[in-house]
Amino acid sequence: MSGKTTRDDMYATRVAAPGDFVFDETVAAVFPDMISRSVPGYPAIINMITLLADRYAQPGSTLCDLGCSLGASTVALATGAAGRNCHVIGVDNAPAMLDRARALSHADHPAIVWRCEDVRTVGIADASVVVLNFTLQFLPVDDRLALLNRVHEGLRPGGVLILSEKVAGTDEQANDLLVEMHHAFKRANGYSELEISRKRSALESVLVPETLERHRARLEDAGFARCDVWFQCFNFVSMVARR
Ligand SMILES: C[S@@+](CC[C@H](N)C(=O)[O-])C[C@H]1O[C@@H](n2cnc3c(N)ncnc32)[C@H](O)[C@@H]1O
Repeated sequence: MSGKTTRDDMYATRVAAPGDFVFDETVAAVFPDMISRSVPGYPAIINMITLLADRYAQPGSTLCDLGCSLGASTVALATGAAGRNCHVIGVDNAPAMLDRARALSHADHPAIVWRCEDVRTVGIADASVVVLNFTLQFLPVDDRLALLNRVHEGLRPGGVLILSEKVAGTDEQANDLLVEMHHAFKRANGYSELEISRKRSALESVLVPETLERHRARLEDAGFARCDVWFQCFNFVSMVARR
């Protein structure tokens, strides 16, 4: 995927009201820079989704990327499963994000189908790999189990969900360390204290992290046979849950 990267300085000038973060045109324009300077390990996770797709994509199956943003994880799926006649679908309900995904990927991956839909209602069937790469955390907590149930139902036997999330620590001390290190990561990537605190306020009650234990329990409730953590850096975790 190619395209010019615009530096994210949204919160250098903008005063955030609590919970006012939305995936609009302003965010879409800076998203690649924003996510790679804000999520420790994001580029590695994208690269590894290619390898996980190579490991788990079943010939002729569907690969779904739910909350695909600009399509980095969708393209990783398509690349890993190349030559297997898979149907690759990227889903996002933010038109500003999806329009860019379409434009960025079109030349190299014309077969990817982009759907501007809510992940809570989009059809999921005959899938061997489903990705929720930092998307579940944006759904209301009460809607999360229903989505995982639908993902589980839509997977073929042996299929997997790749679930990446920002997580909360199991106790206050653990949480403080993870948050402190995440902020250190952001400072090291050029964000000021003011930008970090404004972004944090904008995401309040929009991005709701839960503990790893809570995620494991919910995946089990949804019927997944097992869940393994394959990546963690500070409070950013990625799991493979197997049907
Ligand atoms: C942090 S971004 C995901 C990043 C992306 N998966 C990647 O790897 O680059 C979260 C995305 O989820 C989308 N999203 C949030 N809630 C959604 C919903 N209910 N239905 C569809 N998309 C949703 C947002 O529009 C946003 O693009």
